[in-house]
Amino acid sequence: MLSEERKQQLDEIIIRYPQKQAAMLPALHLIQEQEGFISKNAMQYIADYLEVPIGHVLGVVTFYTMFYDKPIGRHHIQVCTNVSCHLLGGETLVGHIGSRCGIKPGETSPDGKFTLSEVECLGSCGTAPMMQINDDYYENLTGEKVNSILDSLK
Ligand code: FES
Repeated sequence: MLSEERKQQLDEIIIRYPQKQAAMLPALHLIQEQEGFISKNAMQYIADYLEVPIGHVLGVVTFYTMFYDKPIGRHHIQVCTNVSCHLLGGETLVGHIGSRCGIKPGETSPDGKFTLSEVECLGSCGTAPMMQINDDYYENLTGEKVNSILDSLK
């Protein structure tokens, strides 16, 4: 399932560890980079490759919010609603973004453009409320700021 290039990368990572299963996170990142999400088949592939039960892979994929077990939109909007962000209106932003994009948390817009998620602390509490879209952080958010960010996304 992994391309030859990614398989080679994973093999190079595996030899750094005393046990193959220690390479679980990089293995999952590699497959998600390639496929866009981690399907059941991909989980089985990684389980076989690292010689662990599939339940172990499933547990890791479902624990970390950065791994997706189904296809997501081009722009994955993750709004923090943990303590600092909650106190400064994180939930209001979730509602605002949801009504602008026509989706609820956990959903993807029908055109595949946006996926909205409510997430735990992203480690940027000093700039709350904040959100992450794909790999970028957007901080000290207001409704207006969110509007202009969403307008700028293709
Ligand atoms: S509480 Fe939102 S980034 Fe920490």
